[in-house]
Amino acid sequence: MSDNPYEAGQLLADYLLFHYGRDQDLLPWPDGPRSALGFPRRSVDELIDPESAGGGRALDVGCAVGRSCYQLARHFDEVLGIDYSASFIAAAEAIRLEGGTAVERLEEGRLRTAVEVLRPAGVDPDRLRFRQGDAMALDLEDLGGPFELVHAANLVCRLPDPARFLSSLAGLVKPRGQLLLTTPATWLAEFTPVVNWPAGAILDYLRDQLGASFRLERQVDLPMLIRETRRKYQWTMVLGSRWRRV
Ligand SMILES: C[S@@+](CC[C@H](N)C(=O)[O-])C[C@H]1O[C@@H](n2cnc3c(N)ncnc32)[C@H](O)[C@@H]1O
Repeated sequence: MSDNPYEAGQLLADYLLFHYGRDQDLLPWPDGPRSALGFPRRSVDELIDPESAGGGRALDVGCAVGRSCYQLARHFDEVLGIDYSASFIAAAEAIRLEGGTAVERLEEGRLRTAVEVLRPAGVDPDRLRFRQGDAMALDLEDLGGPFELVHAANLVCRLPDPARFLSSLAGLVKPRGQLLLTTPATWLAEFTPVVNWPAGAILDYLRDQLGASFRLERQVDLPMLIRETRRKYQWTMVLGSRWRRV
């Protein structure tokens, strides 16, 4: 069995619901935090500069099961989603090709119910591609050169060597292109050795790592909700930032 936590079956179901689930299937509670729904859509919509996003190619690194790629495809001709998890990429590709899939939603204990999730409407799925890959070892030539925009949502604090990924971004984003980053700054030794954690606050760290090649244009706090069971959720306030390649 894989030791990658993102390969576990329930995690795949949770991510499919998180990315493609209908609001009422995720949060039936009237008092629940509705503003935190739809994070994979909002990590694009609330950060992108639409004025400078018209055509060309976008890359979503750590795309998981792929929902943000559809949001990027509203602005770009081609979108490539890359994730380390083979099962996430297989699910993203199945939804792209088949239009949806059934998910076993965990209710409690041994109880599960089948829920259908659907590919977002209004985007030609032929303009999306998904492939398995490592964010810390992206080959620019293999990717077809730099992109108009790179999106990496909640990836940085899941990498063993985040500085290695961040230093590669200057090559991945075209001059005057956009970099959309989000992070909850939930550093965990199981993903990132403590020696590679930032010494200070996340925004200072990103400035240090990106400052020579990018200018910070926007920062925004983005609430995010991940359903665990019918009665338990993770609510997180994620830091979103938009950087302009100089
Ligand atoms: C916290 S999830 C965020 C997923 C998605 N961007 C979102 O916002 O829902 C982190 C993702 O990064 C992926 N990942 C972890 N290490 C990676 C690596 N070295 N290269 C590419 N993806 C990686 C995981 O498989 C997982 O899909």
